Amino acid sequence: MPNSECQMPDEDRSVRRKGGGAPLATSSQQLATDYWRGEFGREYTDRNPQSVEAMDALYLNQFGLTRTDLNREFLGDLDPASRILELGANVGVQLQALRTMGFGCVYGVELQDYAIRRAHEQFGPLALAEATGLDLPFADAVFDVVFTSGVLIHIHPDRIGEVLAEIHRTTRRYIWGWEYYADNYAPVSYRGRRDLLWKGNFTRMYLERFSDLELVKQKRVKYLANENVDVMFLLGKKA
Ligand SMILES: C[S@@+](CC[C@H](N)C(=O)[O-])C[C@H]1O[C@@H](n2cnc3c(N)ncnc32)[C@H](O)[C@@H]1O
Repeated sequence: MPNSECQMPDEDRSVRRKGGGAPLATSSQQLATDYWRGEFGREYTDRNPQSVEAMDALYLNQFGLTRTDLNREFLGDLDPASRILELGANVGVQLQALRTMGFGCVYGVELQDYAIRRAHEQFGPLALAEATGLDLPFADAVFDVVFTSGVLIHIHPDRIGEVLAEIHRTTRRYIWGWEYYADNYAPVSYRGRRDLLWKGNFTRMYLERFSDLELVKQKRVKYLANENVDVMFLLGKKA
């Protein structure tokens, strides 16, 4: 549980980037949001690994290394007092993995209230707020690290720029990610639909959009059973 110096930064609903709070009513992103908030999202949440051990076992089976191994490789040198925000935290298993590594100040936002309830049942009082990545309810640069794990791939290409901008706005130092990789941005069939998942080169998307970012580290990891590749990246704001 976060210690008293690690309270969730005050939600700052007055923060609105241009377009950040734009209505979603008829957009494809609204469709995806409705999916995640509905039965589709609840089923995903029930399927998702519910413990760090289960997640590590899944990664070991899929990639031949655990998520904890990857996390140590990328964040092992970071100050344990770093404030870390996950966008799209689901039941909080990534946050719990970071706590297990010794990070005490971890927070999440998630748009699915069912996942937030499950997170609290599973891990106790995790600092999780209900919000979307299009409009993070925090002031600028309040976190040391903002990250996604399998979430940028679910943002509609029309809105991805806004989500990247929110992540860039709220981090003081690092952006960390783990996403499906492809040289070219393209839809992937997911649960019978082609409007819920896109793979791409998210590292390049950040670097092309924000000139104050530099690549600290990147690792592409191939699935053992097929030719698909995931990528972990760490970007830093230049000093
Ligand atoms: C594939 S899951 C990944 C969960 C978690 N990050 C992990 O690695 O286990 C995607 C999560 O992102 C959430 N999500 C999708 N779009 C979102 C958005 N625009 N804002 C916030 N959360 C979102 C979904 O509800 C879901 O919990």
